[in-house]
Amino acid sequence: MTHPADAEARFVPSHESTSDELREWLERAPLDQIDMSNGRWFEHDVAGTAFARMRREDPVHHCAGGMLGDFWSVTRYEDIRTIEMDFERFSSQGSITLADDSLGGAVTVDAFIMMDPPKHDEQRRAIRPALAPSNLRRLEPDLRARVETILDALPDGETIDWVDRVSIEVTTQMLAALFGMPMEDNRKLARWSDLASGTTQTGARPTREQRAREFQECHAYFAELWNERKASRSEGCDLLSLLLRADATRDLDQRPAEFIGNLLLLIVGGNDTTRNSITGGVLALNQQPEEYAKLRANVDLIPNMVHEIIRWQTPLTHMRRTATEDVEFQGRKIRKGEKVAMWYLSSNRDESVFPDGDDLRIDRRNAAYHQAFGFGRHRCVGGQLAEMQLRVLWEEAQKRFDFIEVVGPPERVLSNFIRGYLDLPVRIHRR
Ligand code: HEM
Repeated sequence: MTHPADAEARFVPSHESTSDELREWLERAPLDQIDMSNGRWFEHDVAGTAFARMRREDPVHHCAGGMLGDFWSVTRYEDIRTIEMDFERFSSQGSITLADDSLGGAVTVDAFIMMDPPKHDEQRRAIRPALAPSNLRRLEPDLRARVETILDALPDGETIDWVDRVSIEVTTQMLAALFGMPMEDNRKLARWSDLASGTTQTGARPTREQRAREFQECHAYFAELWNERKASRSEGCDLLSLLLRADATRDLDQRPAEFIGNLLLLIVGGNDTTRNSITGGVLALNQQPEEYAKLRANVDLIPNMVHEIIRWQTPLTHMRRTATEDVEFQGRKIRKGEKVAMWYLSSNRDESVFPDGDDLRIDRRNAAYHQAFGFGRHRCVGGQLAEMQLRVLWEEAQKRFDFIEVVGPPERVLSNFIRGYLDLPVRIHRR
């Protein structure tokens, strides 16, 4: 393969490149030739090699002329925390991914994740009760019953796709319950989530027109549910009833971009992240059989293992902020309007906080300090819901299965934002 350090143009990895080739290139290339906005690094699971170098050599790194324009990469744990706290100088307004319009013009959206206080705080507060511990305790028995059904239906000793049969089912059924929508519509949520996140877990990559049409269907679907809840003056704790009762959001249907934007935020937030953590846990335990053995010997490790799986997987690679003024940060000059990517995938491997961070250690003492949920004002509002789903899943899996055996390599998502899996072939071995 041509060594791009010798070439003028920046090297662009392809689907056909091998992971070993890419890792070797990332070890040696000048840092200013590496464009981390290219999703191929994540599809081949080699991004960690570049981030380890950035943490060592240039922790606040500027990339000029990337696929999505210029941007800064912040790669160390403490630096990300500092930027997250400084929401006045590092704004979420406009976009929280490196792409300015991650939906590619298929629909215009606005959502509280891409707003700053005070508007952000008001809208977040509206849905918070659905995801608060008291409501989660109420939802747990039904979640457990659904997980039992999903796991009991898996065939013994046959190769199945864990993503399709388990990860997607658990998370979309949970989300359907949170929205108070018919359970049999759960797969619509998977489809809309994949369309919004630009992944292809539920079929071939759609055209812009097709995406626009399907987002309209999504909008119409939720507008109908919204009107039903409104007419019945619902007192429920589902997400739509809560939005309808809060001053800041009761007229959301009059603001189409915010209506569809906030719904897609909840759909994607509740879907891909948890789905990929459920899958990642199975993969990691297979890669490290000694950790699987620890789990078999002591199921009380499950709550800590859940934190560790989410750290290890880091299903959202980054969140972006935009500088609202010129800022001097760690000796670098970040100019007003510039994009700043906070790479959680890097900070969750920061060796000053997580020694041997590439390894899953289900009894890691500080696993819960991971940054996969972000930090500060925008810290994930659904984090405890995600943890509950993973905990219940593993509790029920350990009751039934001696081994969830990975029998082939996973196919990974092509994205610089979602770190996840299209499929994972496994075979179940019941006790
Ligand atoms: C392992 C699972 C999950 C991970 C890793 C995750 C990660 C994140 C991250 C990184 C953020 C942005 C934090 C920041 O900017 O500081 C976020 C925000 C958010 N997440 Fe999650 N998430 C997960 C599960 C969920 C679930 C289950 C929901 C439920 C619907 C959810 C809903 C949201 C919402 C609504 C926001 C916006 C919060 C705000 O802007 O104030 N997430 N999440």
